[in-house]
Amino acid sequence: MVIIAPSLLSADFSCLAREIKSIETGGAHWLHLDIMDGHFVPNITFGSSVIKALRPHSKLFFDTHLMIENPDQYVEDFVKAGCDLITIHVEAVNHLHRSIQNIKSFGIKVGVSLNPATPLTHLDYILEEIDLVLIMSVNPGFGGQEFIPTVLPKINKLRQMVEERGLKTYIQVDGGINSQTAPLVVKAGANVLVAGSAIFGMENRQKAITLLKESIK
Ligand code: DX5
Ligand code: ZN
Repeated sequence: MVIIAPSLLSADFSCLAREIKSIETGGAHWLHLDIMDGHFVPNITFGSSVIKALRPHSKLFFDTHLMIENPDQYVEDFVKAGCDLITIHVEAVNHLHRSIQNIKSFGIKVGVSLNPATPLTHLDYILEEIDLVLIMSVNPGFGGQEFIPTVLPKINKLRQMVEERGLKTYIQVDGGINSQTAPLVVKAGANVLVAGSAIFGMENRQKAITLLKESIK
């Protein structure tokens, strides 16, 4: 099964709880939460207090993508806010293994993300430790950017790595995912699709999610 994770980044920020309801009833599996600090990426979004406020409004799996420097310092706040999975960027930490263990110590799932130019070799000695790899298919920071096709062979290679090691690691793709690009990344081996503008940019969320699901059948 391929998991659909709408990114709240493209939602109407004046009514987030209602926006989340619309994708929950529309058939989404996870909710993708993009946290940006204005340092690791050139944009600022929201923090753990917003997630904490939204938590009672949804039963969805809260998939949190930290695009921040010094993530270790904030992990506990995001766990307490109700996140089910926390993904950190390899480019944002000095001691990746330690940062992974820190997230795991709270008993939640852990993901590691790679920017488009970052090689898969960063995963060589930690792949067994994590639940998810997030392959960025745009440079992180903004919604609505164009998909970078050179990530396709990268996803393919990662799928091979995961299979060869007999792992169940989720392969998530984030950036420029729509009904044209979704079939390409799924064919390459992805099984979690993040989509912001392709879902929240459409008035009818159920229709948008169904369109995405149909495209990968
Ligand atoms: C980008 C974020 C994405 C973003 C995707 O830095 O990590 O999750 O919301 O937006 P779209 O689907 O519009 O490219
Ligand atoms: Zn994201």
